[in-house]
Amino acid sequence: MTAGLADPLRIAILISGSGSNMLRLVESMTGDHPARPVLVLSNVPGAGGLAKAEAAGVPTAVVDHRAYADRAAFEAALQSTLAPAQPDLICLAGFMRVLTPGFVAAWEGRMLNIHPSLLPKFRGLDTHARALAAGETRHGCTVHEVTPDLDAGPVLGQAEVPVRPDDTPDTLAARVQAAEHRLYPAVLRRVAEGDRSPLRFA
Ligand code: GRF
Repeated sequence: MTAGLADPLRIAILISGSGSNMLRLVESMTGDHPARPVLVLSNVPGAGGLAKAEAAGVPTAVVDHRAYADRAAFEAALQSTLAPAQPDLICLAGFMRVLTPGFVAAWEGRMLNIHPSLLPKFRGLDTHARALAAGETRHGCTVHEVTPDLDAGPVLGQAEVPVRPDDTPDTLAARVQAAEHRLYPAVLRRVAEGDRSPLRFA
């Protein structure tokens, strides 16, 4: 998966929301970085990240899941929208649709995700509230390869943050998101350089 400057790795980023992680990834892929963003795709029309991507000069597309009868039809549309951009790697960045094993298999080893917990703790949703309820003193985020098991693929990097006694889910989420913004670009660069050993940010 190593790519020289003459042949940068082509990155598609899938979003559903504000796209702050997407923007950090896009902004990181300059200069001698071995990858370049080729498409930002949202399943939500009007997602805030679309305007950010356009302002950054990255082509965008929308595949609205509500327009399709089932997951298979939605994912077929995803594939046919991705195909012309010829991505080598997909980064899920706040993409809030569960992908079927068939789609995941088609991108095996070539799809990353960022999850707002220190996996294997707190797979799924509402991770910050659950970390608080569990009395955790450390929380954080994980970048991992996407496999058919939700939030369970090989870990490529983790960043920890402290949990403070007066934290609410919102204050904790803000601290974790700042860590996400450092972690995801760092992991993407390592993966693009061919290094999949887990990165740890304390
Ligand atoms: C991030 O916290 C990510 O971990 C979660 O969704 C959020 C997306 O935020 N899966 P943004 O769209 O990157 O701002």
